[in-house]
Amino acid sequence: MVSVRGERPCRSPRFFLRDRRPGAAQGGPLQREQEDRIVDSWQQNATPWTRAVREGEIGSRVAVTNGAILSVLRALGPARLLDVGCGEGWLCHGLAREGTACVGVDMIPDLVEAARAAHPAGAAPATYLVHDYDAIAAGALHAAGSAPFDVIVSNFALIGDRPVARLLQALPALLAPGGRVVIQTLHPVMSSLDAPYQDGWREGSWSGFAADFRDPAPWYFRTISGWVALLGESGLTLERMIEPVHPETGRPASLILMAR
Ligand SMILES: C[S@@+](CC[C@H](N)C(=O)[O-])C[C@H]1O[C@@H](n2cnc3c(N)ncnc32)[C@H](O)[C@@H]1O
Repeated sequence: MVSVRGERPCRSPRFFLRDRRPGAAQGGPLQREQEDRIVDSWQQNATPWTRAVREGEIGSRVAVTNGAILSVLRALGPARLLDVGCGEGWLCHGLAREGTACVGVDMIPDLVEAARAAHPAGAAPATYLVHDYDAIAAGALHAAGSAPFDVIVSNFALIGDRPVARLLQALPALLAPGGRVVIQTLHPVMSSLDAPYQDGWREGSWSGFAADFRDPAPWYFRTISGWVALLGESGLTLERMIEPVHPETGRPASLILMAR
């Protein structure tokens, strides 16, 4: 199974297949309950998460996935970047040090405040905003005058189902001409070794994380074809897929999707 967004394969998953009850696609009771649990979990875990990221407690990030996403973004060389689900802000901090003007958005006020407080002195300017994906889809960034962006990135942050779909549908209108969307996510095959390879909700776990993490969030698993279909339905064209390989296991540590 997969630690919540811990990017760490472990065992014995609990999973729920797609909610097929009437109204589920529009946000039935199971959908809403799962999405609410995602919010509750990140609220509760903002402090340990900030520490885990900043102190390098997530081995696959240190070994592979941080470098992988940075190298994709550096190659694109954006002047203006939007980081959706920015968490405590490490990606904006790193890119701002290299001159990229960043907007980081997250639904958890404590994480946004942590990102703001740690923005490096002397770096390019950044704005950190509290919005959830539905607020972005409803135009919050247009209203703030933040758009358009050369690159919109989401690093292990597209966790839910319908809010993620609504967010992706809103991204083309936030992109500058020639702009790109870059998504890093758990590798669908590697995170599905003990579960059916089928889109659907799964239980999370903080297995392997420090003892102060609690109440892991469920997450909505997508197959590779599920991701490709979702991008297409959102008016985005998949350009490239990258599978960064973990140097110790020789297996993919994540999947990076680049679309325009
Ligand atoms: C695993 S963390 C990744 C954070 C950051 N991108 C990073 O690389 O460290 C997932 C983040 O997604 C955010 N997130 C999840 N669902 C969201 C939503 N619907 N709206 C806004 N933020 C969301 C969480 O609050 C959390 O900060």
